[in-house]
Parts: sequence; C-alpha cells; structure tokens
Amino acid sequence: MGERVEIVEMGPRDGLQNEARPISVSGKVALVDALSGVGFQRIEVASFVSAKWVPQMAGSDQVLAGITRVPGVRYVALVPNLQGLEAALAADADEVAVFASASEGFSRANINASIEESLERFRPVLERARDVGVPVRGYVSCVTDCPYEGAVAPEAVAQVAAALQQMGCFEVSLGDTLGRGAPERVDAMLGAVLERVEAGALAGHFHDSFGRALENVAVALGRGVRVFDASVAGLGGCPYAPGASGNVASEALAVFLDATGFEHGLELEKLQAASEVARRLREEAA
Ligand code: HMG
Ligand code: MG
Repeated sequence: MGERVEIVEMGPRDGLQNEARPISVSGKVALVDALSGVGFQRIEVASFVSAKWVPQMAGSDQVLAGITRVPGVRYVALVPNLQGLEAALAADADEVAVFASASEGFSRANINASIEESLERFRPVLERARDVGVPVRGYVSCVTDCPYEGAVAPEAVAQVAAALQQMGCFEVSLGDTLGRGAPERVDAMLGAVLERVEAGALAGHFHDSFGRALENVAVALGRGVRVFDASVAGLGGCPYAPGASGNVASEALAVFLDATGFEHGLELEKLQAASEVARRLREEAA
C-alpha cells in the first residue's frame, strides 16, 4: 500500500464561485450529493461571504440544508469574519476556513482589508469556533504571484502561514491563486514556509491556469505535504484573480497519485459521474 494522500474537494465552492451566471441551489446540491459518495473526507460546499462581493455563493445555507450528508464526510464552509462564521454554524458546517493573502494588493481586492487587519478579524473567529468545537482551516492566497503586485516573497507567505497556525488553524492551505507558480518557485516558497510550519499541517492548493499544477503537487509531495485541494472537472477560479482558472482537476490528481504510488481512497468511476454533473452545471451556466 502506498502512502496516503488526502484530496480535499473544492468544486462546489472554489469551482462554482467563479461561474458567470448563478447556479441554482438544487444544481449545487446535486453536485455535492454526487461528490459525497466518491470517498472524499472533506468537501468545501459553501461560502458565507457578502453576496454583494460574490453573488454566486448566495444560498449557501440552503445548500448545506439540502444536501444528503454522508457519515465520515466533513462539509466545509469558507468564512471571512464572525458574521460568516455565525451563518456557517447556523447552517451546521462541520469545518470552516478563513482566508488570508500573502500580498497586500490581493488582500484589499478580495476582502477589503490589509493582511494585518484580516488576521485581527480572524482571531475572534478562531476563538468562537474553538468554543463550539468546529475545526478551522486557514488559506494563504498568492503564495507565488499576486495579480496586482507580481512575484510574492516566500518569507511573506511563511509569515502569514505561521500567524494562521499560531491563532489556531489546524491546517494551512497554500494557494497558488493564479496558477502561475513555476515548480522551482513553489519549492522555494515551501522551503520558507517549512521553517515555520510543519509539512503535516500544510495543504497545497494549486490552480492550473498554466498547466503546471501537477508539477507543483509533485514538488510539494517531495517536501512532505500530503493534503491537496482539487476541483472536480477542474471547475473554477477566483473572482478577484482575473484570468485564473480552476484548481487542478480532482480526476487528474487522483490518476497522478495512482501513477506515482500514493493512495487517495477515491472511487474513480463515481468521481467520473460527479464530473459529468459538474460539466452539465457549467454548460447550464454558460
Ligand atoms: P466589506 O464591504 O468591507 O464588509 O466586505 P463590511 O464589514 O463593511 O460590511 C459591508 C456589508 O457586507 C454589510 O451589509 C455586512 O452585513 C455585509 P450592509 O449593511 O451593507 O447590507 N457582510 C456580510 N454579508 C454576508 N456574509 C458575511 C458578511 N460580512 C459582511 N460574512 C467582506 C468585507 C470580507 C465581507 C467582503 O470583502 C467579502 O465577502 N469578500 C469575499 C471575497 C471572496 O469570497 N473571494 C473568493 C474566495 S477567496 C479564494 O477563492 C481564494 C482561495 O480559493 C485560495 C486561493 O486560491 O488562493 C480560498
Ligand atoms: Mg482557490
């Protein structure tokens, strides 16, 4: 048996948030339900952000209410602040995720706050989540490049990753938001982060805009990272990162892990069926 790698499914959130036209709640529920039997331990299904900023994620409470929860699967929601956390708790999310950036320009554009302000905003979120026993993941965006500032220093990523871990995030997911990170730059970034945060508490979140996501996964595997975010059918992008495409496709990642001798625990036929549901949704939205 190969070493175990967890694929965290992002499609219903990072995927659908970027669709040009909103997708119905029933469509989102159908996608999550198709993904629930695939073998994922975590599926990011909701985002309790301002509907003025990201209209596509409106109705996240109805998505969480409408899905058929499969035991053993954690249904995750993105939250930018306490207001978002309260909404996620009311909707019974199993895990939440806060999101920061390693670059000031993206932080401003994405969440209307400086990096420092965003970290201050997350502190009470972490405290409240701890009180109610809900695990919190942390994202760092723009780990190699920022759409507004260009190349990002590895040390800047390390600082934000360490701050998120220190305030209580059990895992920090490192986002190549633009998919521009070349493997050698991803490696340098990981080198800096690993001086502050251990590999077992990290995840890789590679967008595939330039077709290099799997190479970056390979680099991160070499550095000891064993959790990767991926999006069924490669859905997605970020509304505040113009030109970025989706996360590495879950199907491609699973096949890559098979070929490199890692276990991922997903059933490929069921994943393919979920991928068809995702494609149909995207066609409906186009
Ligand atoms: P703001 O305008 O500065 O917020 O937005 P505010 O506190 O001044 O409040 C303004 C209004 O927003 C108020 O309503 C609040 O109630 C409302 P009004 O009085 O005007 O009617 N509001 C909210 N409504 C619903 N849910 C909330 C919430 N908070 C305030 N949680 C804010 C600041 C953070 C809310 C906004 O900028 C926002 O929602 N940003 C989200 C952007 C986003 O979702 N981006 C995509 C996700 S990040 C990503 O994709 C990257 C990732 O995949 C990793 C990677 O790839 O790098 C994670
Ligand atoms: Mg992303």
